[in-house]
Amino acid sequence: MTDNNTTHIEQLKNHVGQEATLKGWLYNSRASGKIQFLIIRDGTGLCQCIVEKGNVSDELFDQLKHLGQESSLSVTGTIRADERSVGGYEMAVTNAYIIAPATDYPITPKSHGIDFLLKHRHLHFRSQNQWCIGKIRHTVIDAIRRFYNDNGFTLIDTPILMAAAGEDEQSLFEVDYFGKPLFLAQTGQLHLETAAMSFGKVYCFGPTFRAEKSKTRRHLTEFWMVEPEVAFIELDGLLELAENFVSFIIARVLQDNRSQLETLGADIAALEKITPPFYRLTYTEAVDILTSEKAREFLAGQLEEFKNQKQIIENRIAELEEEQKGQIKQWKRDKNAAELIELRSELAEVDTKIENNPKHAQLAAEFQWGKDLGGSDETIISQMHDKPIFVTHYPKLAKAFYMKADRANEDVVLNFDMLAPAGFGEIIGGSIREDDYDRLVARIHEQNLKVENYDWYLDIRKYGSVPHGGFGLGVERTIAWLTSQKHIRQCIPFPRMMDKVYI
Ligand code: 4AD
Ligand code: MG
Repeated sequence: MTDNNTTHIEQLKNHVGQEATLKGWLYNSRASGKIQFLIIRDGTGLCQCIVEKGNVSDELFDQLKHLGQESSLSVTGTIRADERSVGGYEMAVTNAYIIAPATDYPITPKSHGIDFLLKHRHLHFRSQNQWCIGKIRHTVIDAIRRFYNDNGFTLIDTPILMAAAGEDEQSLFEVDYFGKPLFLAQTGQLHLETAAMSFGKVYCFGPTFRAEKSKTRRHLTEFWMVEPEVAFIELDGLLELAENFVSFIIARVLQDNRSQLETLGADIAALEKITPPFYRLTYTEAVDILTSEKAREFLAGQLEEFKNQKQIIENRIAELEEEQKGQIKQWKRDKNAAELIELRSELAEVDTKIENNPKHAQLAAEFQWGKDLGGSDETIISQMHDKPIFVTHYPKLAKAFYMKADRANEDVVLNFDMLAPAGFGEIIGGSIREDDYDRLVARIHEQNLKVENYDWYLDIRKYGSVPHGGFGLGVERTIAWLTSQKHIRQCIPFPRMMDKVYI
């Protein structure tokens, strides 16, 4: 209940057979003669409200008939259960009150291009897709905090203004700090390591910044990352923590957001299978897969599939274009036009996949041990698996200075990336940290970083150094995977990308 007798759509199950009042916005409407169907949204869901001539005054009937999309209003009527209806309940309207009419709302139910929607993000929030993603993001963030808080971790807020690089120097955002350069945090890890020496198990969670020059579907310049850090942990323990953590998040989303996952077309059956243990591959084994006959066949099969998809889309486009040439009703013409926009964008995507497939196949076949795995390599490995994959023991020279060299094979480090399955790619990066003072200094020199910037960080290795490690999970990439979004920009309220900052 909000005020007086107002209820919320998510509470309608408690009002069946009774009169109730809803306050919200007009999401969509259609009229046919003496009956109108108003879809109202109120922030908690959607409800179909049926207005029949004779049940309300003629004047109100007429007003509602001409009411624009996104007008705000209050509606009163009797609630009945109806499985076929959106949300499962309907209202037979007996009265209504228009709070503020809206005309010419810019985002209509027809398709819009992504740039248009990003420029209208402040309004696009009201769409079902954005609403469902927002609800899931809320659950994911709550589950993240719950997991660490309930497992003995202490939250440590690490700074956003940093004196030196925490990852690679190329992706630093510089800030003028009273005439001196500072940088926006790329990670909270280095500060968090110091806190692990005080609290044992810690985590930080906040916005992270990277001047990523790549305009890919996996990169934002501002994203949210949660990072746990644990003293006295080895690589196996870290992998177990990561798989339990990701499984916990998924279980919570499946429990709390099933209907939103359905609306978004997420692969719920695939998510239900995500339980520990995840797959474990070393980097060397991953390279063997990439260069194998199996990968070659897999990619060739994919190419055939893309070509089939292209054919189906082209046939449908031709069919619709033919229809458009003839005499058809205006509503049908509009519907076809919207579908054509969708199909042309799908066609462009399939064309890109067809174009990239041989390039990616070649990159994989010629992959040389020693390079970092590229986006397309991760995608291939990830597409060949149905559960997340840990890739461990990367070549030392391809990785950050702080990763601990494997004492059994000094060419590789004790690190891992977790790749989400079905082509979604890396969602976690982590490692055991180099805990030997001299080796760490040598790595800092090797990477041409200034040792004096890391004096405090090196102190951890001077005073009671212990094995320790942690990882970072990207929140938007995780949500994109869970909700089957193609681009992570849909998974943060106000995305920041290299070439796009609108609102
Ligand atoms: O693999 P990364 O770079 O690891 C670190 O930052 C470590 N310091 C974490 C740690 O060990 N405490 O980033 C971790 C994760 C990635 O796996 C990815 O999910 C996400 O952060 N990420 C991004 N997400 C969106 N846009 C970007 N530009 C991202 N860069 C990394
Ligand atoms: Mg990484």
